[in-house]
Parts: sequence; structure tokens; C-alpha cells
Amino acid sequence: MNAGLRRLLQLGYRVARPGFFALDPERSHEWAFIGLRSLEFALRRLRPSFSPIRDPRFEQTVAGLVFPNPVGLAAGLDKNAELPHVWALLGFGFAELGTVTAHPQPGNPKPRLWRFPEVRAVVNRMGFNNWGAARVARNLAQTLASMKSPIPLGINIGKSVATPLAQAADDYATTFTLLAPLADYLCVNVSSPNTPGLRELQSPEQLSQILHRLHQENQRLVAAGKLSHARPVFVKVAPDLSAEQIAALAAVVRSQDVAAVVATNTTTARDTQETAFLPPGGLSGAPLRERATAVIRQFFRCLEGRVPIVGVGGVFSAEDAYEKIQAGASLVQIYTALVYEGPGIAPAICHGLLRLLERDGANHLSEVVGRRAD
Ligand SMILES: Cc1cc2nc3c(=O)[nH]c(=O)nc-3n(C[C@H](O)[C@H](O)[C@H](O)COP(=O)(O)O)c2cc1C
Repeated sequence: MNAGLRRLLQLGYRVARPGFFALDPERSHEWAFIGLRSLEFALRRLRPSFSPIRDPRFEQTVAGLVFPNPVGLAAGLDKNAELPHVWALLGFGFAELGTVTAHPQPGNPKPRLWRFPEVRAVVNRMGFNNWGAARVARNLAQTLASMKSPIPLGINIGKSVATPLAQAADDYATTFTLLAPLADYLCVNVSSPNTPGLRELQSPEQLSQILHRLHQENQRLVAAGKLSHARPVFVKVAPDLSAEQIAALAAVVRSQDVAAVVATNTTTARDTQETAFLPPGGLSGAPLRERATAVIRQFFRCLEGRVPIVGVGGVFSAEDAYEKIQAGASLVQIYTALVYEGPGIAPAICHGLLRLLERDGANHLSEVVGRRAD
């Protein structure tokens, strides 16, 4: 039933794509979401037995969580955590929902989203538009009460735009407290370019302060019986970091027991001929691929392979995913490729990855993680 439905959805996307691409990007996102919400509703009502794409060569325990396959949904697409079951149905091995902030916020004024199909890129200046942690938590609790998620669900948390940087740790802690009971992991986003000053929180002092605060909150919630166990905390980093900044961040990751590094968010760089004329904002998709892979490789080296990495940025094919895995990523995520290639993207990458493992004589994905990190 899964595979047939996925094929049908991909066919629907092929038919609808020209119409979607003729619309304003945010409008077409809204239309696509109306369709996906109906699918989520139907899944919850009918509760069909469906399992995620899994294969013994893929199954990994990362940060204490079991991942059926390594291809995840990146943060920013399901900002209010509305569609957790849809992502599993579409073949993703995990999904990162959010970014959610403590306060509800509308995000930046429109237009704030642009597609550039000739370079397979997207530029966004969304600015964490979301319902706020309390409403997201209420809604997600209802969604998961009717049906558990068959894949690990992460929730990406960010600083509210109204909160001064000096109070960032408390702001993250508020969101963490509300959402940790519903998440398999939490990802601290200090790397979006669209919230003024957010990237400054990547400084070792500020990041340590936030992580320390979340560690305390984790312990407090466990002691109060509100969490069965402390939730793994991931950190999502920017692709625009120097080698020194990466080394300093890696030291914080090690000292603060960060469970995984998500590398990377969108870039503000416009350093190639093809990107020089793109508008300001976070650039994602094909032009980000190499830069993100280089950051993964540097983190893998600095962390000596001891902290898992989730590789994200410009993954469109199994080859792109494999490149990130060989650079040091245990898992990958995608966003922009879903816009350009449609809902069949995760199964296509999974099948291609299995072929690449066979080609290289590997019996398990973990054998090739970091194989080309030097
Ligand atoms: C429209 C849009 C919105 C995004 N919003 C978020 C967000 O809210 N939080 C976040 O951590 N990353 C966000 N991202 C970044 C993605 O999660 C991902 O890191 C980046 O797009 C690179 O992956 P890709 O090339 O596969 O798109 C967003 C990306 C796009 C294109």
C-alpha cells in the first residue's frame, strides 16, 4: 500500500508541478499543505498499517534513537509540526519539525520566499513564522495521541524575535519544556540567517550557556516525572563558519554532551557566478551542496567521529547523500529537493543509496560514514 500510494503522490506532483511553479512560491506551499493536511487527516482517521522504508543495511542507532533509514525531512517545511505521519508515509526515516519559538510570530513581511529553478535553489527570509510553542504542543499532543509516529521526530527550536539575545537561554528553555515530552530529540537552531543576531549564539560562550540551561531543564523534567528520560539535544550550525569557529564549536559540542550536530542551515554567501545576483536571505539547494559538505567534513575531523552528524544542504540524489555520508554524516536531511523533485524523493534516494553500498561492497551504511573525511 505504501509504495503504491507514494507512486500516486509522485504522479500527482508531476501533473500539478507546472501549476505550482506558475504560482507565487509561498502560495504554492500553502496549496501543497492543504493537500498534505487532508492526507494527514485521512491517515489518522483510517490508521492504515504502514511502515517506513527500512532495510537492515540502513538501520542505525544514533543518539540513542533507532532510524529505519537515513533520509530525513529538514526543519522549516512543517513549521507547526502538523504532518508527522505524512513524512513517514512519504518514506522519510525521520522528520525534524519546526522551527518553533516560545512566542507565536508571523515571520518577516512577504514576499519572503523565492525559487530559482535554473540553479535548483531557493532563497528564503521567512523569519520563523510559527504558532508558538504552546499551540504547537497542544496540536501535536492530539496528533500523536491518535497515532504514534513510526519514525523518530525531532523538533527544531529557535529564539523568538522579540526576545533579546541576552535572554536567549530562557527563551529556548521555555520552548524546550513545552515540546520535549512530544519529541524524540530537540534541535537547537542558532544558525538561521533570518532572525537578527541569532547566529551570534554560535559563539562558544553563548551556546554553552543555552546548552547548560537545556541540560538543567532536561534533568528537572525527568526528576518531576514529566519526561521518562532526558531528550537528546542536537545543534544546527551555519555553513558560513571559519575553520577556527568550527573547531571552537566542536569543543563546545564535546564538553556539553551534544547528541548530534546538524550541518548545515542555509547560507548567506553569494560567492559564485551563479549565486552572485540572488537576493539576500538564506540560500538552499544545489549551490549550497559543496559548502555544506565541507563543513560536515571539518566537524567530523574535529569531533573525531565521536559525535554523529546530520548532513543537510543541496541533497538531490543518492550520490549527493552518499557524498555527505562519506564526508562524515550518519544521517542526511532534505528540503529544497522536495520542492523541485516531489514526494518521491526520499524513496528514490534510499534505493540509490542501497545500490551505492552494494557497489562499494559495504554491508551497512555505518561502514562508509566518514570514509572520505580526509
Ligand atoms: C523555505 C525554507 C525555510 C526554512 N526554515 C527553516 C527553519 O525554520 N529552521 C531551520 O532550522 N532550517 C530551516 N531551513 C533550512 C533547511 O532546514 C536546510 O537546512 C537548508 O534548506 C539546506 O537544505 P536543502 O538544500 O536540502 O534545502 C529552511 C529552508 C527553506 C528553503
